[in-house]
Parts: sequence; C-alpha cells; structure tokens
Amino acid sequence: MANRQPDLDPKVLTIADLLVEGQKNVTLASKEYFNGGAGEMITVRDNEDAYNRYKLRPRVLRDVDGVDMTTSIFGVQVAAPLGFAPSAAHKLAHPDGELATSRAAAKNNIPMCLSSYASMGLEEVKAAGGSNPHAMQITFVRDLEATKEQISRAERAGYHAIFVSVDLPILGKRLNESRNNFSFPAGLEFPNIRCRPTESDTNVHLYSISFCEIGRLTSLDPSITWEKAIPWLRAQTKMEIWLKGIYTPEDVAMAISHGLDGIIISNHGGRQLDGVPATLDALRDCAPVAEGKIAIAIDGGIRRGADLFKAIALGAQFCFIGRVVIWGLAYNGEKGVDLAVKILLDELRQTMMLCGCHSIRDITKGHLSVLQSNGRLSKL
Ligand SMILES: Cc1cc2nc3c(=O)[nH]c(=O)nc-3n(C[C@H](O)[C@H](O)[C@H](O)COP(=O)(O)O)c2cc1C
Repeated sequence: MANRQPDLDPKVLTIADLLVEGQKNVTLASKEYFNGGAGEMITVRDNEDAYNRYKLRPRVLRDVDGVDMTTSIFGVQVAAPLGFAPSAAHKLAHPDGELATSRAAAKNNIPMCLSSYASMGLEEVKAAGGSNPHAMQITFVRDLEATKEQISRAERAGYHAIFVSVDLPILGKRLNESRNNFSFPAGLEFPNIRCRPTESDTNVHLYSISFCEIGRLTSLDPSITWEKAIPWLRAQTKMEIWLKGIYTPEDVAMAISHGLDGIIISNHGGRQLDGVPATLDALRDCAPVAEGKIAIAIDGGIRRGADLFKAIALGAQFCFIGRVVIWGLAYNGEKGVDLAVKILLDELRQTMMLCGCHSIRDITKGHLSVLQSNGRLSKL
C-alpha cells in the first residue's frame, strides 16, 4: 500500500508486542520484578486503564503538514515531550545496561533520568549520551553525605537536574519479590551509591554492593520534611530540582511555595502505595494548580502515543516512561529502546495529525471526551 508507513520491526509493531517479545529474554523473577508493583497491584492496572477512559476528539481540515513535536525541558530543546523515568539496574534486562539506554535517549534527543540504583556509573552514562538533557534521581537516605556526594558527582558530570523521589519514606510492599525471593545477581554493581559499612567506620568508601546490602547500608530516611529537604538541596546545587511522586493539589501548592523547578505526578508505577488513583486522574486534579507556576510532568501506564497525547491534553508538559524502556532493553539492548521510542513517537505524530494538532501547544483538553455510563460522550 503506497500510503502505508513501513514497520520498524517485523515482530514489534506496538509496545504491547515489545512486552511480549522482551520478556522472553528474562527470568520469571526478573520479569515479575520489572512488571510488578505494591500489594494487589490495583494501582499498576489503574495507571494503564485510566488512559482508556478518555476518548480522542479529532478536529479536521487543519494544516498538519510537517507536525512539530519538539518542546523543551530544563531549558534544553528536545525532540518530543517524552523521556526516560529512572529505573534500577538496567543490566538485569541487558548486559549493556544504562549505557544502551543513554545512547538510545541521545539518538532520539530526549531526556534520560538515571536511577540512584543504576548498575553503571553516572559519569559513564552521561558520557555515552549526547547533548540531550540528563537528570539524576536521588532518594533521601540517613547518610546525608552519601546524597550530597551523589548530587555533586551528577553536577560535575554535566547533569541538568535532580529528581528527588519523595514517595519513598519506606519501600512499598512488592509481594512478587517476597514470593520469588528476588535478589539481584551476584556481581551486579551499584556504583552511584556510597555507603558506610558500619556506624563506627569513619572511612567512607565507594562500594559495589548487592541490592540486599543496599537495603541495609543505605537506609531510607523517613524523617525528611519540606523544611529540612528543600533549602538543603538548594544549598547543594545549581541544577534544577524536581520532586518525583507528587500526587495532590495541596502538595503541588507546597512545591510552588518552596520554589521547586518541577514536579512529576507519579506513583512509582504502582510500586509504592497500592490504592492511589491512576496518575492520569491525579494529573487532572493537579495540573490547574501547577499551570504557569511550576513545570509539571507525569509517569505511569504510558504505553501508546495516544497516551502521551491524552496526558498532554490533561495538562502534562512532559511524559516519562519506566517499564517500556526496560522491555526495550530486554528485547534488544540499545536498538530495542530506540525501537520503543520510535514506536511511541510515530504514534504520537499520527495521533496529532489525525486530531488536527500541528504542534504540542495545539493539544488541549478540547481534544478529549469521556464516555459516560449512559453511553453519551461528555466534553471535559
Ligand atoms: C523495575 C523498576 C525500577 C524502578 N526503579 C526506580 C528507582 O530506582 N527510582 C525511582 O524513583 N523510581 C523507580 N521506578 C519508578 C519509575 O521511575 C516510574 O515512576 C514508573 O516506572 C512509571 O511507570 P511505568 O513503568 O508504568 O511507566 C522504577 C520502576 C520500575 C518498573
């Protein structure tokens, strides 16, 4: 067919295909670690399902020749409002680990956020990238010096922002990890984590440690507050500071009054607190408070270009993907991640054209409706 676009991969036409093909290459325990979440995983499912509650409202006869998906984040121009959320231990999915992820992000000129629990050093990951922006995810642990060192290493390496995961005063209860007795394989390293081996040891070392040891050595700090964290962070760095895991309009207002640069509406992909609503629903509540005052992004459940479109229509300036990156890695390393991005961006471009949007700015909630229980569509 003359007008049919060529397929990027014979087996993987969608992200759903990528999930099927990618997980053929990992063990059951790894698959469940990647795909699982907290408790009964109601929120894991809700994150995806929420996107199906919104229907697209296409407008026709608009000039959509040469659709423009570009936007910016951290003051840097990027190809599209899509980036990589931080996720731990990419070497578990593919031996090239975060280097492969970083190269795929650079190739597509989109931002990458590196997890504190990455399996490769933040400097080499940044060096593998290009001029695309990088963020470093941090978590408050009881050893504040360790966090301080992570931030200054990221700043020295040229990272643009830190994403502070604020939904982690305690690790969520992930039942699959208990049932599978999951642990990272021996030899997998976490080179961005510095820990003190014992309370009495005054020498601080950079360790290559197992995840079980991470739990023991880098204990999360549940006593952290807005007043303690934000001024301290500002004193450490000139990088942008974004909070990841914001969920309510009240906390959006707090983030604005504390002068943060951005927020990510995130429930950690349903891995922390089961029973919170889908991020898309939280976004709808939070976006009006953020508008014009603080940058706002979303992650969780994004599996299609149309999902990106819907999140943008509901007020997100930027969207991040977590598991999709891991499935791409598991499928075919850097090429698999590149494929995942290309599928999503092709779908976004197509959705924009078919909805009559020439640029990201043109996407509004006027392009969405909700199907009511009486079978009628209602505009937002
Ligand atoms: C396997 C895995 C590991 C993750 N590790 C981290 C992490 O180290 N730090 C963090 O802030 N978020 C982590 N996340 C959460 C992601 O940043 C993101 O919020 C979530 O994956 C988005 O949902 P999605 O996977 O449905 O796109 C992890 C998610 C997964 C699936």
